[in-house]
Amino acid sequence: MPKRKILVTAALPYANGDIHLGHLVEYLQADFWVRFQKMRGHDCRYVCADDTHGTPVMINARKCGLTPEQLIAEYQAKHTADLSGFEINFDNFYTTHSEENRKLAEEFFGKMKAGGYITEKSLAQNYCPQDKMFLPDRFVKGECPRCHALEQYGDSCEQCGATYTSDELVNPHCSLCSSTPEKKESLHIFFQLEPFREFLAAWVKEHTQKEIANKLEEWLKDRLHDWDISRDAPYFGFPIPGYENKFFYVWLDAPIGYISSTLNLFPEQKEFESYWKSEESELYHFIGKDIVYFHTLFWPAMLKNAGYRLPTRVLVHGFLTVNGEKMSKSRGTFIRARTFLKYIHPRFLRYYYACKLDASANDLDLSMHDFVRRINSDLIGKITNLASRGIQMLSKIGSRLGTLQGEALKLVETAISKSAIIEDHFENRNFSKAMLEIREIADEANRFFDQKAPWKLIGSKPEEAREILTAVINVFRIIAVYLRPVLPSYSDQAADLLAEQPYSWNACREIIRNKKINNYRYLAERITEKDVNSMIEESKKEAAPAAPAMASYEPQAAEITADDFFKIDLRVGKIISAEPVPETDKIMRLTVDLGFETREIFAGIKQAYRAETLIGRLIIVAANLKPKKMKFGTSFGMVCAAGQGGSAIYLLSPDSGAKPGDRIH
Ligand code: MSP
Ligand code: ZN
Repeated sequence: MPKRKILVTAALPYANGDIHLGHLVEYLQADFWVRFQKMRGHDCRYVCADDTHGTPVMINARKCGLTPEQLIAEYQAKHTADLSGFEINFDNFYTTHSEENRKLAEEFFGKMKAGGYITEKSLAQNYCPQDKMFLPDRFVKGECPRCHALEQYGDSCEQCGATYTSDELVNPHCSLCSSTPEKKESLHIFFQLEPFREFLAAWVKEHTQKEIANKLEEWLKDRLHDWDISRDAPYFGFPIPGYENKFFYVWLDAPIGYISSTLNLFPEQKEFESYWKSEESELYHFIGKDIVYFHTLFWPAMLKNAGYRLPTRVLVHGFLTVNGEKMSKSRGTFIRARTFLKYIHPRFLRYYYACKLDASANDLDLSMHDFVRRINSDLIGKITNLASRGIQMLSKIGSRLGTLQGEALKLVETAISKSAIIEDHFENRNFSKAMLEIREIADEANRFFDQKAPWKLIGSKPEEAREILTAVINVFRIIAVYLRPVLPSYSDQAADLLAEQPYSWNACREIIRNKKINNYRYLAERITEKDVNSMIEESKKEAAPAAPAMASYEPQAAEITADDFFKIDLRVGKIISAEPVPETDKIMRLTVDLGFETREIFAGIKQAYRAETLIGRLIIVAANLKPKKMKFGTSFGMVCAAGQGGSAIYLLSPDSGAKPGDRIH
């Protein structure tokens, strides 16, 4: 098999909001595909970046009292944490606000000018005299011209679904300050697309899904409008060389971010060019259906004109719905990545999405009941169970695998024989079909297990039992290889149980025999409707407007002096282990490293955190409290946290640099 050189991109998230389960439809499917290619031994890279420019970032920063640079730095940190929390492994996650990107944007613009494709026109647009800025349609609000709902955006009505231009709004006003916008003329810079129409019409046919190409064909029948690539100051973006107070529109430099992220990963010119200036590599863009025009019209025209290679394919996916409806803040189905991580293990979302995804641009539904059912009955009940039953039973006769013959061998060989079809499904992004094959292998092995009933043979015919278990464990192992693109950490834990290294794809064609394996350690825990409900409830709360600030200070305790305060010996601690106390709703058992000693402390944070996410976290502990006896043990200290209680608990943490045992003063 010749080694392929592959570059994969996912659309750049705006540095203006949190990653949510909708985004993850994309970042996860691309991650599955990249991990699959890497396991196959190909040289595959996955790059992304934050999309940092534009009016919304500028306005949001202003609202938060930050500079845009500070705001995008915060989002970069949040996005990186959220995405890696879901085991998404980028080779580079960069930013569009970089020197590389600025230079490239200037280069692309220079080539547009050189080609004679730049024109200038004066446009009259909404301008807020109070804020002294042009208002994008999203920043103008007013009454819907069709249904007369109030406070609708300048491009569409959320009540009746009408789309229109901001000129049609009744009583238009600035969404920031409510002034009535004026019409003001200014010069705009355009990139002409019409000269690329024929090229584009031919190109899209071959480089995206049929359904998408068909729609584009309609579009490409008519003359293409010039594309407005400039915005007036104030704007957060790159200044356009040769003009005063004009900036590149965010969508000009955003896709160039794919290139600059690659350049940042491979600063060496020759290596970089092997991705963007040569056909020796393959280039894939994963995108959602809402940004098809940008990637199949503007972008190929830009690339072609600037002398860069074109994508091998633009892979378009559909939108996420939750319980059959659009994600909704008030229903609590607009779920942020971070909120999900608090309640449910990320691998379960990976598994579920893989079961639902195919190569089409159809929408994908996350039905919460179906989610819980599939995890518990399939991933835990069918797949994980093979390992937990098989390995635990084997440990009763010494944890050593035996030999395989006859039916037992056949079972394993059948599982191996599925590799070609599963490979094809992964390669073609038919993830749901790959997952179906994998489940069927597990079903077969469970049937074999039940029918052979090795538990009855352990006492009388241990070697027969060993052979049956060897077959079942081998099938589990093969499944763990097949699942690795989707469930990397699960697969690696499985490899570890079997005393093996993380799997490459070829490992699925091996059989392990006469080999000592490790004792069973837990791989995955069932999820409950309760976890899901808590996540939904929290998402509702996040969406609700913040409670008004308290009118006046109401002391929560009697006045004390500074001396009194220093009677509390507050210290930095580091959580070494965390374990929910099963007999209670609220309490988590923590082992905390205080530098000078390690203590057990009980804290009422069970509804707010998942145990695994706490490990390694620095916290603040009241260290000189009298030990408190509780039903399930003694607590040697108290952990500091803010919030109302229940799931609204926020642990206090020092900035990085603090060490366990440090005093708080
Ligand atoms: N910043 C632009 C992309 C620039 S790429 C040069 C953007 N950002 S986004 O944050 O709004 O979306 C990022 C990706 O997530 C897009 O591909 C988008 O389609 C996808 N999704 C955002 N919400 C989604 C769902 N609810 N469902 C599925 N995908 C969704 O667009
Ligand atoms: Zn205004």
